[in-house]
Amino acid sequence: MINQIEEVKAKFLEELQTLKDEKELEEFRVKYLGRRGIIQSLFDKLKEIPREEKPTVGKILNELKELAQEKFNEKKKEIEAKKEKVKISLDLTIPGRFKYTGRKHPLTQTLEEIKKIFVSMGFEVASGPEIEDDYHNFEALNIPPEHPARDMQDTFFIKENIILRTHTSPVQIRVMKSKQPPVRIIAPGRVYRNEAISARSYCLFHQVEGLYVDEGVSFAELKGTLLAFAKQMFGSSVKLRFRPSFFPFTEPSAEVDVSCFICGGKGCKVCKYGGWLEILGCGMVDPNVFKFVGYDSERYTGYAFGMGVERIAMLKYGIDDIRLFYENDFRFLEQF
Ligand code: PHE
Repeated sequence: MINQIEEVKAKFLEELQTLKDEKELEEFRVKYLGRRGIIQSLFDKLKEIPREEKPTVGKILNELKELAQEKFNEKKKEIEAKKEKVKISLDLTIPGRFKYTGRKHPLTQTLEEIKKIFVSMGFEVASGPEIEDDYHNFEALNIPPEHPARDMQDTFFIKENIILRTHTSPVQIRVMKSKQPPVRIIAPGRVYRNEAISARSYCLFHQVEGLYVDEGVSFAELKGTLLAFAKQMFGSSVKLRFRPSFFPFTEPSAEVDVSCFICGGKGCKVCKYGGWLEILGCGMVDPNVFKFVGYDSERYTGYAFGMGVERIAMLKYGIDDIRLFYENDFRFLEQF
């Protein structure tokens, strides 16, 4: 019996060393210290041994029981302490988690910048429908049916006389029909043209229209306003160049170039070595347009302009393919 007790003790101590976690600890406790455990079974055997041996063996057994409990408690503390340590240990070498911050689309950013500049000069923001009728998009803008000027703007038809607007100029008509001068608005929005899609043109793009009508509005004011805009948009040292042009709804008309803000006009890849970048079309509102909206063309004069937002964003950010704006490719968008 004493041998048996020694054996149990040796095994107990050996096994105790191998315990790694709380689960193993509990299994071990049940096995040795439980009510049906090995040590208790030794106590049960005590009944079977000769009476005179009982006190000695009983004493040894009690010692084993105490020792086992003590050693077990020590191990338990050790395992619990280790667990605590794992919980609070920090690994500062683990890479941080990437948090993606959203941002505005480059076209939205450009549009907002354009709007801000004109609003600061006293322009109100107006809008009109993208599905337009022939009258507002063409006729009232002095572009009669069969007029060759319609060829400049390849049109998407929804049905006869109903189209996707090809420019933001119909908003001029809608605003002038709804109120008397003075009118000073910009109209940003989407326009559609049935063009072959390429790096330079897309079936959809954005324009910002401008219109100012009052008594005594002059071409000089148009120049001054556009120059103030260009300096804020592209930098205070830029110059503007007005080239005579034609639009049915303005007379005289001009196309406006800004001196290349990349090379300062010396000539580079962006301005194709010409030193100038075309940014918009403009002119004095044609008296025929005033007739369509019921304004007195003897009393009022006005100017109008229209610029392409994609074109301006492409110049400003050096983007060489208009299709990039619409592809929703993160690698492109996250650069702005
Ligand atoms: N609507 C013209 C275009 O899309 C631009 C323009 C607007 C020209 C206003 C003159 C005045 O080409």
